[in-house]
Amino acid sequence: MRLEFAQRYDAQPTAWFRAPGRVDLMGSHTDYNDGFVATMTVNRDTWMAIRPRDDRRVRIASLNLPGTADFSLEAIEHDADVPWTDYVRGAAGVLQDDGAELAGFDGLLHSTVPFGSGLSSSAAIEMATLLAFAAVSSIDLEPLELALLGQRVENEFVGVSCGILDQYTSVLGAAGHALLLDCRSLTSTPVSIAPELAVVICDTRAPRQLAGSEYDDRRAQCEPGAAHMARSNPGIKALRDVSLELFEAHEAELEPVVARRCRFIIEENQRVLDLAQALPGGDRDHLGRLFHDSWVGATQLFEIGAPSMTAMHDAMTGAPGLIARRQAGAGFGGCLVAIVERERVAAFSASVARAYADATGIEPSIFGVEASAGACPVEVG
Ligand code: GLA
Repeated sequence: MRLEFAQRYDAQPTAWFRAPGRVDLMGSHTDYNDGFVATMTVNRDTWMAIRPRDDRRVRIASLNLPGTADFSLEAIEHDADVPWTDYVRGAAGVLQDDGAELAGFDGLLHSTVPFGSGLSSSAAIEMATLLAFAAVSSIDLEPLELALLGQRVENEFVGVSCGILDQYTSVLGAAGHALLLDCRSLTSTPVSIAPELAVVICDTRAPRQLAGSEYDDRRAQCEPGAAHMARSNPGIKALRDVSLELFEAHEAELEPVVARRCRFIIEENQRVLDLAQALPGGDRDHLGRLFHDSWVGATQLFEIGAPSMTAMHDAMTGAPGLIARRQAGAGFGGCLVAIVERERVAAFSASVARAYADATGIEPSIFGVEASAGACPVEVG
């Protein structure tokens, strides 16, 4: 990266930042329902090398993504032709909206987080960029502020109505353990994973379709459910507050599609709490049941499956060392996540890759991940 930076900008970088991707172990679409997620960073990162500029311009390029940007901080605009640069432009935009006096920089990105797979490659770019702007502009930002700013980049600039999960995990995740994240209080507690278990990403590598509009639809279908319950129970602010008993008492009053969405979120929230209890001890049967129930709910009630995901799920059937498997990220394609006997990860990966490729003609990407440190500046010698 140092060489490419020097070739592109005719100077050496002066500062480096690293921000990891993430995977959710339980809790699909619970974040924007004020709920819980069991989440962890993955040891796949976005790296950003920069050199400050003394004008108010930003130049940015990537080793993995086509196109570049060269823009003035005086006028932040979208670039529909090079959409990934919107994460960088948007980071500048939200900081300036908050009154920050930003300095510019020349920057180069490199990502080992696969793009568009549901591992939060975009949140990683946002976190690395926000850290870079904070450094060149001498602004102090707490980790939670970074996460919330990153979410605003998506919500206000990019136009994705995501929750806080991705950005929170990228910056507040930590090495060696998962997090039980409470998306209402924006606090988390560490959850250890039994050491003999490995987390394995099974990326379908099939193109994702309709993800944006379907995501918004899911959000819009959860809200009337919570609003309906709130009429008779004014304390209810979100589906997080609805117990299964209360839901079942009112289920028949809801539109069937709204009822399905709500049931999934309410049950999934409970599964997150159960998983946080089960992960440290590593009870195989319990983990398998929780993941299975999450997958069934996601595909049948929340309907965020895709043929490629089903093919991957099938490809894992009977694979050596498999303990549990479910969807990851927003769904509609992308990755599945599996819990596998650590000593059998290689055999598991080979078997799943072969079965999936035979069934679909697509070479998947299967790899074990470890929880790594959250986003931070890095000293590069
Ligand atoms: C995407 C969003 C998150 C979250 C997940 C689903 O990753 O960015 O906020 O809603 O989907 O759990």
